[in-house]
Amino acid sequence: MISARQLRLGILPILASTLFYITPVQAAEFPGYEVAPERRTTGIGKFYMGREISFVMGHQAAGWLNRPGRIQEEMPDEVVANMGLDPDHVVADIGAGSGYFSFRIAKLVPEGKVLAVDIQPEMLAIIDQRKAADGVTNIEGVMGTVDDPNLPPNSIDAAIMVDAYHEFDHPFEMINGINEALRVGGRIFLLEYRGEDDSVPIRPLHKMTEEQVVKEMGVFGLEWTDTLGFLPWQHMMVFTKVAAN
Ligand SMILES: C[S@@+](CC[C@H](N)C(=O)[O-])C[C@H]1O[C@@H](n2cnc3c(N)ncnc32)[C@H](O)[C@@H]1O
Repeated sequence: MISARQLRLGILPILASTLFYITPVQAAEFPGYEVAPERRTTGIGKFYMGREISFVMGHQAAGWLNRPGRIQEEMPDEVVANMGLDPDHVVADIGAGSGYFSFRIAKLVPEGKVLAVDIQPEMLAIIDQRKAADGVTNIEGVMGTVDDPNLPPNSIDAAIMVDAYHEFDHPFEMINGINEALRVGGRIFLLEYRGEDDSVPIRPLHKMTEEQVVKEMGVFGLEWTDTLGFLPWQHMMVFTKVAAN
């Protein structure tokens, strides 16, 4: 027979700790980088979770990002229409380049804004020039670094990366920063040329397989909620932040 005193000292505290113990969200474990003895032509010789990271596309090629054929190849208007944005959403376009997607997204968030993040000041200057020319006021350029998107915690509803993630020099640190900046329920849209498809006419390191992307996002507990299959050459993958950091 358990006395009232034993109950108070023993069982009740155990019960209470079971009821009120909240599992802490674990910090993501850094899987590490590896350096290759030999690098591939368009790689930097650094590997993350089994894939070689590509070099960064220089701002000198910014004109190529605006090539007319991209409308058929990457269907940018359909991409942004499929993001399910609300007019007041704050969206980070990470690796924004010349703003090919930022300007399209800005039209869908008239009461919100786009944070156009890049590490090349020349890209942000191109965005500034176009903002001034077109009278766009809801895009803010953000100067990031290779390992930090430079976004405040809990400040964005969505992030999009188009043809950019494969060239992030520090993918773990970048997704960690983006994850911290996302509000719970916020989504990451990751678009990459399909690595599983040999018919996609892009160099191997500039493509990613769905399996690889899921593996890399899984490190952060991001939930893979969808892959939209309407694009001719790319995956449009969606990940959702389901729990607070
Ligand atoms: C191939 S361009 C794509 C630009 C744009 N997303 C588009 O689809 O037109 C990739 C961009 O990512 C940027 N970038 C590379 N590493 C980055 C990083 N760690 N943080 C932010 N931007 C980065 C590059 O400077 C470049 O402008």
